[in-house]
Amino acid sequence: MKKIGVLTSGGDSPGMNAAVRAVVRKAIYHDMEVYGIYQGYQGLIDGNMKPLELGDVGDIIQRGGTVLHSARCLSFKEDAVQLEAIEQLKAKGIEGLVVVGGDGSYRGALALTEKGFPAVGVPGTIDNDIRGTDYTIGFDTALNTVVEAIDKIRDTATSHDRTFIIEVMGRDAGDIALWTGLAGGAETILVPEVKDDIDEMVRRLQRGKARGKKHSIIVVAEGVMSGTDLQNKLNEKGIDTHVSVLGHIQRGGSPTARDRVLASMMGAHAVEVLMQDMGGRAIGIRNQVVVDYDLKEVFETEHHLNQAMYTLSKELSI
Ligand code: ADP
Ligand code: F6P
Repeated sequence: MKKIGVLTSGGDSPGMNAAVRAVVRKAIYHDMEVYGIYQGYQGLIDGNMKPLELGDVGDIIQRGGTVLHSARCLSFKEDAVQLEAIEQLKAKGIEGLVVVGGDGSYRGALALTEKGFPAVGVPGTIDNDIRGTDYTIGFDTALNTVVEAIDKIRDTATSHDRTFIIEVMGRDAGDIALWTGLAGGAETILVPEVKDDIDEMVRRLQRGKARGKKHSIIVVAEGVMSGTDLQNKLNEKGIDTHVSVLGHIQRGGSPTARDRVLASMMGAHAVEVLMQDMGGRAIGIRNQVVVDYDLKEVFETEHHLNQAMYTLSKELSI
């Protein structure tokens, strides 16, 4: 391939810019041309794309968000729209596409490949919920943002002897809640993958109180229930709480060194895959090694929570 495209899609994540930079620089290093496609799949349909030069991706490695912008484009699920997008790419002479995004964006990449246009997925999502890779780009930064918030909330929880509920992102995956709950020393962590018993949780909070514990931190993933719903449930059981919803603060900010390095390695690897004229591949990291694997594998198995870590979090928060 001599000409490729790159787009960012779905929920943005810190490190997407570092991935775009790596795609552009690696491709140009190997005498390829790169088109930046704006607004995710919407830009593909609209032909909203332009060639990117080395300087276009300068000074972005440290920036959160995505300079290519992102969008949710529901019509991209339609076959006719996907074919239209392929026509746009072909009209520019583009032969392969790097899609940086989450699970939904990967479905779009797979659809393009199945229609004859080679696309490669780079995992960009704070949720860490892409099967086949140990980590996704943005997860580490989001963890650090959340832990910083938990530490601050803990200070005031301690001063006022309060129980705080901290609602974090994660519609289907509990990775953010589990990792930050463990790192922030939370007494209770609620994740979508495990059905928790509120009564058991109440008993645990009461046991802690009886032992003289005056404050408590509960981390709940949004996919379980909202912080205020949980507050109402606990209120019915006589437990008074305060709620803090961290929201989109978790998606922004300068990427950590780990996310920048991960994004650089994965973006470059995506170009290597396209250089071999391969499409339908997902880029991942396993045991510190960057790998590529069949995009279909992402949808064949469920994302699993780290059970050992979950058990540990229970053991450490008795
Ligand atoms: P994420 O990629 O972060 O999971 P979404 O689930 O919103 O975010 O997906 C991002 C975009 O990917 C959607 O707006 C749509 O354009 C595209 N997409 C999602 N699901 C499909 C699908 N089944 N087929 C084709 N494209 C899809
Ligand atoms: O997929 C990433 C994510 O941040 C989820 O954790 C969250 O539920 C969702 O995006 C929110 O998306 P939006 O900002 O588009 O509503």
